[in-house]
Amino acid sequence: MRAFPHFIVFLVALTACQGGRHITSAIDPYHFTATKSVVARNGAVVSAHPLASKVGVAILRQGGNAVDAAIATQLALAVVYPNAGNLGGGGFLVAQLAGGQTVALDYREMAPAAAHRDMYLDAAGNVVPGKSLNGHLASGVPGTVRGLFESLRYAKLPMRTLIQPAIDLAEKGFVITTREANAYNDLQADLALYNTRPTVFAHSSRWKSGDTLVQKDLANTLKRIRDQGAAGFYEGQTAQLIVEEMRRGGGIMALADLKAYKALWRTPHTFDYKGFTVVGMPMPSSGGTLLHQMLKMVESQPLPRYGFLSPDAIQLMTEVERRAYADRAEYMGDADFFKVPQKELTAPAYLEQRMKDYVPGVAGSSTVTRPGRLPKESEQTTHLSVIDAQGNAVSVTTTLNNSYGSKTVVGGAGFFLNDEMDDFSAKPGVPNFYGAVGGEANAIEPGKRMLSSMAPTIVLKDGKPFLVVGTPGGTTIPTSVFQTIVDIIDFGMSANDAVNKPKFHHQWLPDQIDIEKTMPQDVRAALLRMGYKLNERVGIGRTEVIRVLPDGRFEAVADNRGEDGAEGY
Ligand code: DON
Repeated sequence: MRAFPHFIVFLVALTACQGGRHITSAIDPYHFTATKSVVARNGAVVSAHPLASKVGVAILRQGGNAVDAAIATQLALAVVYPNAGNLGGGGFLVAQLAGGQTVALDYREMAPAAAHRDMYLDAAGNVVPGKSLNGHLASGVPGTVRGLFESLRYAKLPMRTLIQPAIDLAEKGFVITTREANAYNDLQADLALYNTRPTVFAHSSRWKSGDTLVQKDLANTLKRIRDQGAAGFYEGQTAQLIVEEMRRGGGIMALADLKAYKALWRTPHTFDYKGFTVVGMPMPSSGGTLLHQMLKMVESQPLPRYGFLSPDAIQLMTEVERRAYADRAEYMGDADFFKVPQKELTAPAYLEQRMKDYVPGVAGSSTVTRPGRLPKESEQTTHLSVIDAQGNAVSVTTTLNNSYGSKTVVGGAGFFLNDEMDDFSAKPGVPNFYGAVGGEANAIEPGKRMLSSMAPTIVLKDGKPFLVVGTPGGTTIPTSVFQTIVDIIDFGMSANDAVNKPKFHHQWLPDQIDIEKTMPQDVRAALLRMGYKLNERVGIGRTEVIRVLPDGRFEAVADNRGEDGAEGY
């Protein structure tokens, strides 16, 4: 373990940069543990890393609101959780602000201007395995930094204050856990393959728990952002470093792509479910639309009577997931480029029709269930949930796509670039990393945003925040959020159980139910009897929930599947 004096240096640095005000006196980056669940009155933050959650709560304590805390937490995650926290990726934010206004911010990556439809195909027209996943060609133009600066519109503190904890964590380092050490050890071969310059993650000996990760290049990038604003990333030295990295590795992202990147405010995708209001993310994420379809398809069914993890409930929810994901493959993509029939996909009559061939107790089939006919006219991401006592609730999911994105660190700038281009449909019908298929709606075009499954969501009760929820997990994201909402609203479960009890997933193709190890044997047997194919996989999602209790306090729960942390005060 790191010696005590090192910690003092860290605190002093924070104190100095805050003009004498302690913002994180409670944070020790060399000795910390993850709190999995808290009940708090003034505010709460749940994220994938305890230090990032602690930074968020420190910002709340300092007078920041939930938006400030969400910004500072994301920046801290870019340092302490490099497999998904990022400067080189993108994300989505959904919030309800104290005045009651709901907003959605899209800072999804964008295809570079030189991208083209067939860029991942070989001469015979086949998808080249890995080309959209690893290395320099896999990255979309990063959106995160613009997104953070756009979010500042609703924050109270300056970026200078919000970014400083991240700078200190990068500069002074933090202690890594066994799981993180293992992840860095597993990454070594990829780092050697996809990097043109040495990175801090490459290690001649094996990483072990208790090692300190110091990221000087990243600290300098963060300082340029602190001093020059978004231009400290999209222009000047950082942009130059990105483009030089592209040149060395055969990538196509150009200075003009970076300069042109815009984060966009969108109208949240909002609908009612059993008297609650669900506020979700619209295109280019399929998250809000899929949630809408799935919740509405179960709304009139006797789910509460079936009960949690009953074979009948799992079957119903599976059939609903199958139908929604079939529509995703056909109709969903960046609505700025492709006319997504959003109204039609969520019309009550359409969804009712869609369930006409659901037979309780009998497995459906994805050969029979196709994308619906519409009326003619028409393992890494990271989620954080934040709430404050003024009535601001913020739900953010952000990602590099896979763990450590493209595995390429920008030489001299210290951050991983995303491999989000894999979320496009490289060729109609060919599954991407998450097994999702697509076609025209999600084909690659310059400047287009790739379809996402990320579903940062807020559920309101009587117009006030009730749940702040979201998760990583690729295509399992909307189904995990769907199940979390149903678990709490229909099955009356606690937030803790809704987060940690078994989850399952069906996405139309492949035609199977993914289940976790914890799925009880008798339930498996019942589903097999109905005719389902089961596929056991490691943990589905890492759901972070804040629930507002009847007395107004916040119950914050971090998923046990990861080392995530819930903090509050
Ligand atoms: O936007 C999406 O849907 C994916 N890029 C998310 C990837 C993800 O959740 C990875 N986490 N396990």
